[in-house]
Amino acid sequence: MKKLLIANWKMQLSYQDSLALAKSFRKKIKKSTNELVICPDYLSLPAVAAVLKGSQWQLGAQDSAGAATGAYTGEVSPANLKKLGAAYAIIGHSERREHLHENGAVISAKIKAALAQRLVPILCVGERLIEKENGEAKKYLSEQLRLSLKGVKIKKSSDLVIAYEPLWAIGTGHAIIPLEAGLINNFIKTQAAKILGKTVRVLYGGSVSAANAGLFLAEKDVDGLLVGGASLKTEEFKRICS
Ligand code: PGA
Repeated sequence: MKKLLIANWKMQLSYQDSLALAKSFRKKIKKSTNELVICPDYLSLPAVAAVLKGSQWQLGAQDSAGAATGAYTGEVSPANLKKLGAAYAIIGHSERREHLHENGAVISAKIKAALAQRLVPILCVGERLIEKENGEAKKYLSEQLRLSLKGVKIKKSSDLVIAYEPLWAIGTGHAIIPLEAGLINNFIKTQAAKILGKTVRVLYGGSVSAANAGLFLAEKDVDGLLVGGASLKTEEFKRICS
C-alpha cells in the first residue's frame, strides 16, 4: 500500500524560497510509488499550488479554520483552501496546541469544518516527555483522541489521517525507536477506530530523516511520515521518498 509522505515546511521559508523549493521538488522528486504532499505556509499556498499543478504532488495546509465563512479575523477558510486545490490540512499540530493554546474543542471544530469541505484533516497527537517518563503516554494519547475527535464523523477510512508526533521527538534529532512507533501507531489506530468506527491511516512524525525514514516505513502500522526539518532540502526529502 502507498505510504503518505508529508513535507511540513512550517514557517521556515520566505515566499520566494517556498516557490523555489516547490519547483525543485517537482523537478527532482518524480515517480515516487508513495503519495506526496507539500504543506507550505498560507501565503505561499496559491503560488505553490500553481507550481505543483499536473504533477503527482498534492497540496496541504498547515492549519484550517473551524468554520467555512464568518467573522473570524485572521483565519483561513477550509472552503478557500479546498478551492485552491488543497487536499489535506494539518490540524492540532503540537506547536499550535502549545503556542496558540489550541485545545480539543478548537481542534474538533476545525476537523469538522475541514471534513465539511472534503478537505482531509491530518490530526496531530503526541505525548510530552513527562507523560512518557511517567508511563502515561497511552493514557494521554487516548484523551487527546477523545477530545479532538469528539462528535467527528467520517464516511470512509480515507477521510481522516492521524499523525503520531511525540513532542520530545519534534525538532530534537531524537526520533522514537521505529518499533515503538509501530506499536503506538497500532494503539492509536485501535483507539481512533473505537471513536470513528473506521480504521484510519496513522503517520509518524518527529526527527524523521533520510537515515531513519526507511525503518519507520517498514513498520506495518506506520502509514506514512510527517516531516519537518528534513523536508526543507530536496536531496534529503528525495531520499525519504525513494
Ligand atoms: P521535525 O518536525 O521533522 O522537524 O521533527 C516534524 C513536525 O513537527 O511535523
